[in-house]
Amino acid sequence: MTNGLFFRELNARRFARMDVKFIAGYVLMMLLIPEALGDAIDWEAMLQPQGGGVRYDGDGTYYGQQGGQNDGGACSFGKTFSNSLGLSWKAGVQTYIALNRAQYNNSQACGQCLMYRGLGPGIGMLPIPSDWQYGLVDNVCPECAYGSIDLDKNGDGRWKIEWYPIPCNVGDGKFHYYFGGSPNPYWFMFAISNTRVPIQNVKLKNPDGAYYDLARGWNNMWAANGGPFTFPIDIQITSVLGDTVHDAIQSTAGGDGQAQFPDHPIAGNAQAPAPLKALSTEGGRRMLQS
Ligand SMILES: *[C@@H]1O[C@H](CO)[C@@H](O)[C@H](O)[C@H]1NC(C)=O
Repeated sequence: MTNGLFFRELNARRFARMDVKFIAGYVLMMLLIPEALGDAIDWEAMLQPQGGGVRYDGDGTYYGQQGGQNDGGACSFGKTFSNSLGLSWKAGVQTYIALNRAQYNNSQACGQCLMYRGLGPGIGMLPIPSDWQYGLVDNVCPECAYGSIDLDKNGDGRWKIEWYPIPCNVGDGKFHYYFGGSPNPYWFMFAISNTRVPIQNVKLKNPDGAYYDLARGWNNMWAANGGPFTFPIDIQITSVLGDTVHDAIQSTAGGDGQAQFPDHPIAGNAQAPAPLKALSTEGGRRMLQS
């Protein structure tokens, strides 16, 4: 037996043993870490009053006031999106949020609205308030642990928090398009903000009439290549709740579209116990009290 063959056999055996350990470890992980079993965020919770009891907890930290209006947020919303400059829907958002990497899930959570509050314990000078605050995810926090959020706010310290996902209070607001890079007739990419709930999937209508899936980047941009494309272009957008709507992008200047995801009436008892100060129910839609 040559040395080379011997080592190859040894390695093959080692790999076989590693496989067993790896699979056993994976199974154990799936059993021990509940989040490994389900979605990064429990989207169905958004159809229940107050998240149907779903609560994520972790640490809340501050990363300084960016006002949500920088292009630096990983979600690539540009300078005009909910509650920022010149916006189609202005209700409610108090804080822009950088979500932990696991739940950000390669930008799937971009545009997620959530209610969060401080639970008390923590260290630092400025505790996170214990009354519910309304936040919108526009960024990722790579170093944050599962459940944790980094607030786009001036502040100090690390505080225990809890949060749950809710549909955004978009009112009559429509999707908003923002183009990145240097679009041309054969290639362009764009991000979509002002969605009632996050986006699962975007398809674009090809010149041949067929819709095809666009690839989503870590920066929440949907990239189209092929063409040559002529505007307006039809797209088909599916939400994380499975609703599919059509819209037309007028040009690479972006701006407001015509469509929005449908509003789902909140199921169950709207008068659930422990009402949230910030919330009331109006026509089945959650509204922030002013
Ligand atoms: C992350 O996002 C992808 C693409 O949308 C999705 O298929 C996958 O289920 C998500 N992962 C989790 C853990 O939710």
